[in-house]
Formats: sequence, C-alpha cells, structure tokens
Amino acid sequence: MERAIDVAVQPYESMGHSLAGRDLLSIADLTTDEIIAVLDLADAAKSGRDLGSPLAGRSLALIFQRPSNRTRVSFEVAIHRLGGHPIALFNPEVQLGERESAADISRILDRYADGIVARLVSHRDLVTIAGAASSPVINALTDAEHPCQVLADCMTVRTVTGRLAGSTVAYIGDGNNVCTSWIYAAALLGVNLRVICPPGYEPLAAVIERAARLRAPGTGFEVTHEAGPALRDTEIIYTDVWTSMGQETEQQRRREDFAYLQVNDGLVGLAPPRVRVMHCLPAHRGEEITDAVIDGPQSVVFDQAENRLWVQQALLALIYAGDGYEAAA
Ligand code: CP
Ligand code: NVA
Repeated sequence: MERAIDVAVQPYESMGHSLAGRDLLSIADLTTDEIIAVLDLADAAKSGRDLGSPLAGRSLALIFQRPSNRTRVSFEVAIHRLGGHPIALFNPEVQLGERESAADISRILDRYADGIVARLVSHRDLVTIAGAASSPVINALTDAEHPCQVLADCMTVRTVTGRLAGSTVAYIGDGNNVCTSWIYAAALLGVNLRVICPPGYEPLAAVIERAARLRAPGTGFEVTHEAGPALRDTEIIYTDVWTSMGQETEQQRRREDFAYLQVNDGLVGLAPPRVRVMHCLPAHRGEEITDAVIDGPQSVVFDQAENRLWVQQALLALIYAGDGYEAAA
C-alpha cells in the first residue's frame, strides 16, 4: 500500500498556497494541492506526528443547528489536542434567525472567539456568517455541503486504494450535501465518480456544471439510476442516509423510492470482491445499508469515521499555524 506523504520536508508556504486564516465553506474553495496538503498532514498525524499547539490561547465557537455525534466530538477533540478551547452552542440557545440574525451571531462570536465551526440548516446562513466574521469559518454540514466529511472520506479512499487520482467511487444515495462535496472533491482529485440515485434525487445541475469546470480531462463522472453497470469495476461503494436531517416528513416516500438501492450483500456482490464499503454515518441500519454489510469484512466505515478527527486536526493546524507550518515531517 502506498504511503501518501509525498511533500515531506517542504514548508507548506513554499508550495505556493496557504490555508492560513482561510474559511472552508465548500470543498470547491480548495485547490487540489490544498486538499492533498490536508490529507498528507492528516496521515502524518494519524501515524504519530505531533502537530503542536497552534490553537494555544485560542477559542473556537461551534454552532450546531442540527444534531451531531461525529462532527461535534471530533472537532472538540481536535481543537483540544491543538491546544485550543472549543465552545459548543446548540440551537435552543442560539436560535439562529429567531433570537437574532445569523450576521449578528457571527459578529458577536467573532469578538469573543478565534473561529466558528457551524452546522446549519441553510448554506446561505453559513455564507452570511462567513461574511460577517473576520476569523475563519468552517462548514460542519449544511443543506448544500459537508466538506469536512468528504476530506475524511478522501483520506480513507487513499488509504484503501493507495491513490485518489484514477480511483473509482460509486456514491449511492441522495444527490444532496455529502454527494455535492464528493462531486467537487472527485473533480479536483481525479477520482472517477458514479452517482447512483433514484429518479428525482439527482445532484443539482449547477453543481454538475461547476464540477465540470474543475475536472481534468480523462476523469470520469456519471449520474445513473441503475447500480449494476456502475458497480462492475468500482473500488468503493459509498452510501448516505435516504432521509437527511430535516427531511423526516418525506421518510416514507424516500424509503419506497430508494429501496432498490439498499447496500446489501446482493448489491455489493455486483462489485469486484476487493470493493470496500463506506458510509458517512449515522447509518439507518436496515434502510440504506444492512447490518451484514456495515459490520462485514468489506466495510471501512469506522476507520472512515475515525479519519474525521485526523483531517480536522490537520485542517485546523494549516488554518491556524500560519504560513510557516510544515505540511509533513
Ligand atoms: N457524519 C457526520 O457528520 O456525523 P454527525 O452527524 O454525527 O456529526
Ligand atoms: N446527508 C446527511 C448527512 C449526515 C452526516 C444529512 O444531511 O443528514
């Protein structure tokens, strides 16, 4: 298996780009090199590299308008490990857009804290918060994207397949937030991506058009309604819940529409035996994925979940440590 740390001893700044002080609202905010720098540093941290304390003396506010397990805990632990202080705020106290406006919340948090990590219902509110804050703002999931999840996913794919460029991922599910971040990431990284969804659940045309402008010639991309041909030579089967947070009233219809795409032994059997199965979690076991698959030998779901911690540590280190930070030792 290829070890992916190939920018050894090169100061990050000398590579001609910098994440210092930046926001991360969309995966498409990043260049290919910037994504690779995050993944390389995440791999190094996972292998034992001490990233130091670039957040010493700093506090980050975490806003959760939606529930979270992985995102909240992995960000809080990452911030703590980098020497910082996380302050998690939940919707009953923040009441974004009700008690006060997104812009006012942002202006206030910006006076107290050194950055904002936000899981919001509306991506538009995230853009407003970023516009009103002078310190970095990181997307912890919106209706439009989930970039930190997909950074961890890319780290996992690279570990599993030994590469990103030229690898093949089949995303099975709704063409919404996680799928959108995957579409941009795949375009930037040269991953051949197949999106398999029921009719009516396709990714937005604007997303597909934007990704087409990012994609290098030769990188495959397709949206299809049938799993069979798309899985024939895939290395990764990736799935997400059929009913995302906030869509609960549509659950019954979605169960019916997506049923034929359940990731079960039969569907996994359409792919080569070496295929690995990923899921961003939380899993609705018995809906989009069966117990046998998620707990089976082809599942890398829990490694994938662990990688949230490493990529977020790396991302925060590169945002907060400044330009002199070395991407890999
Ligand atoms: N994958 C993910 O974002 O999990 P949480 O919703 O638990 O944060
Ligand atoms: N698409 C899912 C992702 C959960 C991490 C949702 O938005 O609920």
